Amino acid sequence: MNNYQPLLQLFLSHLENYTSNLKTKLPTELYEPENYILNLGGKRLRPLLALIAIDLFDKDPKLALNSALSVELFHNFSLLHDDILDAAPLRRNQPTVHTKWNTNIAILSGDVMMVKAFQVLENYNNDEFKQLNVLFTKTAIEVCEGQQLDMNFETANLVTVTNYIEMITKKTAVLLGCSLQMGAISASTDLETQSNIYEFGKHIGIAFQLLDDMLDAFATDKDKFGKQIGGDIIANKKTFLLLKAFELANDTQKQTLQNLALEKDNIKKVHHTLELFNALNVKNICGQEADIHTQMAINCLNKINANTQKKNNLKQFAFELLNRKI
Ligand code: IPE
Ligand code: IPE
Ligand code: MG
Ligand code: MG
Ligand code: MG
Repeated sequence: MNNYQPLLQLFLSHLENYTSNLKTKLPTELYEPENYILNLGGKRLRPLLALIAIDLFDKDPKLALNSALSVELFHNFSLLHDDILDAAPLRRNQPTVHTKWNTNIAILSGDVMMVKAFQVLENYNNDEFKQLNVLFTKTAIEVCEGQQLDMNFETANLVTVTNYIEMITKKTAVLLGCSLQMGAISASTDLETQSNIYEFGKHIGIAFQLLDDMLDAFATDKDKFGKQIGGDIIANKKTFLLLKAFELANDTQKQTLQNLALEKDNIKKVHHTLELFNALNVKNICGQEADIHTQMAINCLNKINANTQKKNNLKQFAFELLNRKI
């Protein structure tokens, strides 16, 4: 990640400029949570991807700063609402907005952040604006679809791994692809290049969500992970881990898993589910699935005509991201 420190710093100062204006905005209840969530940190992955993409094509990264801000605002909006949907108490190791304030405040401050994510794009003109907006609106709709599928799957019985991959592609992966493509649009690259960089990001995004699901169950450092460990198990999320566990379980284990979905004691529920996950080795299988998508991503990147050193830096970044412990 060190290769990208200057790009990260560039984004952080642009963000600082944006958030400093929030402090005095009224009504306070609307803008304080926005300032709170944006200042809790996070990896800044999506804005960084927008800047990495424009830099990959040797154009000035500053030209993609507003796209970078746009995707980070959208991401943070989606987290505010996601934490309501998932009844999550912790985000980036701090109370979630709906627990620190209340649900209505989290809904409305999320809404305004989402609208502003689109407003920031008004800094672009004519054809560039049009291209960015078309991509961003399409992506935003897919994220909502993915989030609804995620909700539906909590209570659905027949969810396949294919259904799951489609769901995480929409809720998570397309925004990573979009962030990269926005950088490529501002670098005026051709459509084939844009499609390859988008597909690279999409597959990185699938691996990223597989890893997020794995950490949700198995993270060992709660403070670094920053979210409630076992939250997906408690909410009956149909993660890859759970679907694989059902696939590999014998009849007795299947029955246990079914009973655990109804278990009211969360500590017991997480403990026994993890026991079964371990017995069935699903963590490793999940890691292998993530590796497949990382390799698919690299294949897309290899098709792109750009500076070899810059492409290698991006590959290294992807490997580090997908081997993280937080
Ligand atoms: C969290 O995204 C939501 C997922 C798609 C898994 P990140 O893991 O990028 O969250 P931050 O921004 O670094 O906190
Ligand atoms: C996140 O999925 C997807 C979006 C925020 C759109 P998760 O629900 O797994 O994300 P975390 O684990 O809460 O960050
Ligand atoms: Mg969540
Ligand atoms: Mg969720
Ligand atoms: Mg998660």
